[in-house]
Amino acid sequence: MERIPASGTLKMFELAKKLEAKGRKIYHFEVGEPDFPTPANVVEAGIKALKEGHTKYVSSRGAPPLLDAIADYYNQQGIKIDSQENVIVTPGAKLALFSGIMATIDSGDEVLCLSPAWPTYRVMIRMVGAKPVDVPMSPDFQLDEEALKSAMTRTVTALIINSPSNPTGGALTKEHLKTIYDLACDHDFVVFSDEIYESLVYDGFRQASMLDVDPDMKRSLIINGFSKSYAMTGWRLGYAVGNSQTIGNMIRIQQNTTSCAADFSQMAAVEALRGDQTSIEKMRLAYQKRRDVITQLFCDMDGVSCMSPKGAFYVFPDFSEYNLSSTTLAELLLKKVGVVGTPGVAFGKAYDSYLRFSYSASMSDIQEGITKLREYLPSLK
Ligand SMILES: Cc1ncc(COP(=O)(O)O)c(C=O)c1O
Repeated sequence: MERIPASGTLKMFELAKKLEAKGRKIYHFEVGEPDFPTPANVVEAGIKALKEGHTKYVSSRGAPPLLDAIADYYNQQGIKIDSQENVIVTPGAKLALFSGIMATIDSGDEVLCLSPAWPTYRVMIRMVGAKPVDVPMSPDFQLDEEALKSAMTRTVTALIINSPSNPTGGALTKEHLKTIYDLACDHDFVVFSDEIYESLVYDGFRQASMLDVDPDMKRSLIINGFSKSYAMTGWRLGYAVGNSQTIGNMIRIQQNTTSCAADFSQMAAVEALRGDQTSIEKMRLAYQKRRDVITQLFCDMDGVSCMSPKGAFYVFPDFSEYNLSSTTLAELLLKKVGVVGTPGVAFGKAYDSYLRFSYSASMSDIQEGITKLREYLPSLK
């Protein structure tokens, strides 16, 4: 663990907190946490569950009403899964991913990450003694099939994908997923598909699931959760969907580690999935508006290029014309204009001219903060 680097996001967050304590106005764009409260109907369901005594251990697989709600969520999309075979509920999607990796990867294995990639993937891979290998995406953050093919070695046992992506907001199409599935069959590897942002998508785009191209879950483990789409970060609730053998192994890990996810959180999540979706749709539309504004602000800046994200709540602009490392640039922006982004290098060495900005921040902070950044930037040339 001593060889694992500290989180780039948290480092910036702590620097920002120190300045805030001195009374500086800080514009936070570094943390990937919804700024909306958990929807009221979901909170009410959690309170009701507490009062009804959902305060004890439950099955390590998950509470049956939530397992059924998750299975129905997929079945309604035409993806057949069995709630008692193919699902495990975990305390956060992070733990679903970690126990999936523990259950599947041996030390010495190589695990590919489409990069830029969420730093946690590399850390988890290293925690089980395996080797993370970055596979760069194309310059417009699409799948680079040739790069993926050329990364295949006999020791590759898995690939981690994340669509829509943290940090780019880019999305893989169903055709990309099919290409990945075919490669997984040809080269005998597993695909961990982190789909936590699948319902935070914009302009009518529908994010395909790895389950659309691998309905029998032969090669895929789906990671999903409630933190992002339902603004439920603190309830700590995620899940995985996969074949019964992998899920069975993950259940054994859970039995011997965290035992289960909190029962009352699971009851609240049943309401999140089955209850009124109005406030969830409102959040999505608010993110879409913010995405339009923040992308436009970056696109209008001299010497900055920025792709319009298809989903999630991040933009990943490129500042290469300024010839500064992403850490130096992030620290300067924080000190000079109080704007906090995450250095791109955290997402892969090749991205040291990028910064990630999360637009899970208020519209007024986006407008004010990014405008300040725009006014300051020319002084760095
Ligand atoms: C890509 C990705 N996957 C998973 C997670 C973790 O979610 P959870 O809060 O469910 O552990 C995050 C949170 O930042 C994320 O960005």
